[in-house]
Amino acid sequence: MEVSVWLVGAGPGDPELLTVKAARLLAAADVVVHDALVGDGVLALVPASTELIDVGKRPGRPIPQELISTLLVTLARDGQRVVRLKGGDPFVFGRGGEEAQALLDAGIPFEVVPGITSAVAAPAAAGVPVTHRGVAASFTVVTGHRPAGEPDIDWRALAGVGGTVVVLMGVSQRATIAAELTAGGLDPATPVAAVQSATTGDQVTVRCRLDELADAPVRSPAVLVIGAVAALELSAVGAAALTQSP
Ligand SMILES: C[S@@+](CC[C@H](N)C(=O)[O-])C[C@H]1O[C@@H](n2cnc3c(N)ncnc32)[C@H](O)[C@@H]1O
Repeated sequence: MEVSVWLVGAGPGDPELLTVKAARLLAAADVVVHDALVGDGVLALVPASTELIDVGKRPGRPIPQELISTLLVTLARDGQRVVRLKGGDPFVFGRGGEEAQALLDAGIPFEVVPGITSAVAAPAAAGVPVTHRGVAASFTVVTGHRPAGEPDIDWRALAGVGGTVVVLMGVSQRATIAAELTAGGLDPATPVAAVQSATTGDQVTVRCRLDELADAPVRSPAVLVIGAVAALELSAVGAAALTQSP
């Protein structure tokens, strides 16, 4: 059977970080169903004749996941070529797995097209390597947001794992995250880099210590990088800025 739905990763924001395959599928789709975090630059690549459906969940506008899955099935049964476009990678905290399951259950042929996840793209865009020889030999990617009824993250245990901790969706919980990691044994002076709106024109990096994170001016969407690597700034742009500073 021919594929009719593609679950596509849009990358972190910069349209040049789309995969070649994602760009080809966007150009050929009948309908693009997209999330709130898909950048305007990426959406600008969708031909004007293609139907765009915004199903982004925003504060005050929660869209039930089942509705989105049903929409994908309905569009596919109507004979449309559907691109389901998600920020970053569709299977990293993107609920792409649930949509894939719904398509499987409905017998709709689909394909997953990976994207560059913000979990590595945001640190990289700020000049922070998530692993670095002699500094961090591993990184753990974790969500700061747990839906009601689901078990909390064991931050204290995570503090003992070592390596870099990369937190997505952690801005509103950053005070608790910092307190719990410290209670688990992480040094309060551990460097943190919070990278906001990475790879877009609005990118901002806030650097601080773990014990300053609660009061640091960080806004969503941001990736929190916690660990010794967060003190690094391996970027020519950053280096130039430092050289020019008085
Ligand atoms: C629902 S998760 C989706 C993650 C996505 N599937 C991925 O692989 O990047 C949304 C979270 O991703 C992070 N995020 C996504 N895009 C970002 C960006 N351009 N800059 C900083 N953080 C981003 C933020 O932590 C945000 O709250």
